[in-house]
Amino acid sequence: MSSEVSRRIFLQQLGAAAAVTALPLSLVEIAWGAGKGESFTFAYISDPHITQIKGTEFVDNFDKGLAKAVLEVNFMFPQPDFVVFGGDLAQLGKPEELDHGMEMLSKLTLPVRYVIGEHDYYLDLGKYWEEKISKLNYSFDHKGVHFVVLNSILTDDDWTHKRWPTAAERMQQMARLDNPDGSPFMVKEAQRNWLKADLAKIDKKTPIVVMSHSPLYKIYKGWNFWTDDAEEVQALLQPFQQVTVLHGHVHQILYNQIGNITFHAMMSTAWPWPYPHSFAGKPSMVPKLTVPMNRADPFHERDATGWSAIDLASGKVTNRLELWENTPRTVAEDEKTGLPADSQYQDPAKRIPPQDHY
Ligand SMILES: [Fe+2]
Ligand SMILES: [Fe+2]
Repeated sequence: MSSEVSRRIFLQQLGAAAAVTALPLSLVEIAWGAGKGESFTFAYISDPHITQIKGTEFVDNFDKGLAKAVLEVNFMFPQPDFVVFGGDLAQLGKPEELDHGMEMLSKLTLPVRYVIGEHDYYLDLGKYWEEKISKLNYSFDHKGVHFVVLNSILTDDDWTHKRWPTAAERMQQMARLDNPDGSPFMVKEAQRNWLKADLAKIDKKTPIVVMSHSPLYKIYKGWNFWTDDAEEVQALLQPFQQVTVLHGHVHQILYNQIGNITFHAMMSTAWPWPYPHSFAGKPSMVPKLTVPMNRADPFHERDATGWSAIDLASGKVTNRLELWENTPRTVAEDEKTGLPADSQYQDPAKRIPPQDHY
């Protein structure tokens, strides 16, 4: 039964209640999966980059971005089942930044699942995060969906342990976007082995949602919009019928499909990055499927920052991007092609191209 048909039947069944016109659409959506696996929503907040100036003074704009996302999620009706935090809570991994960010996230009234970003990791290699916030990789099940959280921002041991005189210098290096002294992100073998063992217990028909910080495919190495062992991770996921990877880090609209795996990027609450080719002027592998964000004003600091609400129906993800100071966007599976699509902007004549920055 298609979503439209089941929605119509649901509405007919509710017709007697007479209050049907007052139902918020999202409440209707929740009924769509009835009979073939439950549907549910969760919210996704990512990349607030809380930045300490000194003492108890923090960059106000980044604080406000996170506070606004928390407020909007708390005001959602109906409430999502949980919230995912997608990484880069801090700018330089300091305990003061992590504590300040966690204080803001503690205002959420829902359970939160955490993914670590490179800005949270490279000062103490995740020690404070693991002690105070969350494990770095883990899995859980929710209403028939298997969720996996990966730490995808690891890199070579040599770079991590031998290259830099201090931990603060290592953090500074990894915090840069276009850094020739950087080192590519990886999931690495130990975690890939853990993933393999975790997935061995799961039926191939079970929908899988993987949450990482970096994209688990390759877009542009110069900025680490890249995971070096992405193909090995993808190979572990390909046997499953329905796989979605949700990631932060790139601070922009980006989606892709490789085999059975659909990829969606989540927005940052702090700032949007331009697309690599529009800023560095170099070729990148931004997927052809992606309709670029219509970031009309690169000098407007809030333009196209935001967060996401995700509807999961029978394992299929609809990503509703709540873009502040910009047009909200929805990326959902196109029923005809089976690929993620932003149906509103398929016509190139309707698109506002991303601005060149170089
Ligand atoms: Fe980030
Ligand atoms: Fe990041």
